[in-house]
Amino acid sequence: MRDAEFHDHRLVEVYDAECPWSRDDDFFLSVVEETPRVRVLDLGCGTGRLALALAAAGHRVTGVDPAASSIAAARAKPGAERVTWLEGTAGELPRAAYDVAVMTSHVAQFLVDDATWLTLLDDVARALVPGGRLVFDSRDPRDRAWERWNPVGSRRRVTLPDGAEVDVWTEVLSVAGGSVAFTHHYRFPDGAALRSDSTLRFRSEGELRSSLAAAGFVVEEVYGGWGREPGGEGDGELLVVAHTR
Ligand SMILES: C[S@@+](CC[C@H](N)C(=O)[O-])C[C@H]1O[C@@H](n2cnc3c(N)ncnc32)[C@H](O)[C@@H]1O
Repeated sequence: MRDAEFHDHRLVEVYDAECPWSRDDDFFLSVVEETPRVRVLDLGCGTGRLALALAAAGHRVTGVDPAASSIAAARAKPGAERVTWLEGTAGELPRAAYDVAVMTSHVAQFLVDDATWLTLLDDVARALVPGGRLVFDSRDPRDRAWERWNPVGSRRRVTLPDGAEVDVWTEVLSVAGGSVAFTHHYRFPDGAALRSDSTLRFRSEGELRSSLAAAGFVVEEVYGGWGREPGGEGDGELLVVAHTR
């Protein structure tokens, strides 16, 4: 299965352990907090780290993700009853139901082909109220992050909640047409060797801006880093804040 890291319950546990709260969550939380007590859509919410924090901060949050195992992990966390969880995609969302939509930890890059990406943007625009905001991150291709994804540089040991240690490393398979295909490898203490194969699309700022315009969004800002640095500076990110008309 593609993207097994979000679907296989053993790999979902690794993802969750490897992705604690960090500066990116601070950024997304601060942008959402610019509008008090909003209805927030966390699209591609994964195991729910940000959705839960947004709900704890008083927002009405819906977390949506196509990966059943990730949603199940989110639902099992403390405070999960404050969030509405949906296993699905943006195409299933009600019209004009949210004030802010977030897509965090590079969800946007999993929409590899342009038609799928545009359909998602159309669906999100429809699900937002007029003037509703969309905030998301996409790695800046100028930073060439994939060059750091090699079996030596990416090797890490992830400690699970029960103390088990999993060795994880990443291997890039191909780089072509703005897309990077790669595999995460996992070795568990019981000897199990699992893998997760993915492809991510790296869109330039220009490509993001034109796709957003095509879906009817007005771009407010494109930051380069989590400290709201200008594009091309900061963390090799394209952090987009946009709104519908
Ligand atoms: C890197 S994870 C990010 C999860 C979470 N947002 C976080 O910050 O930890 C990417 C997520 O995007 C989800 N995803 C992939 N394709 C999607 C789509 N078409 N619509 C919504 N979510 C999608 C995956 O299932 C996965 O949970």
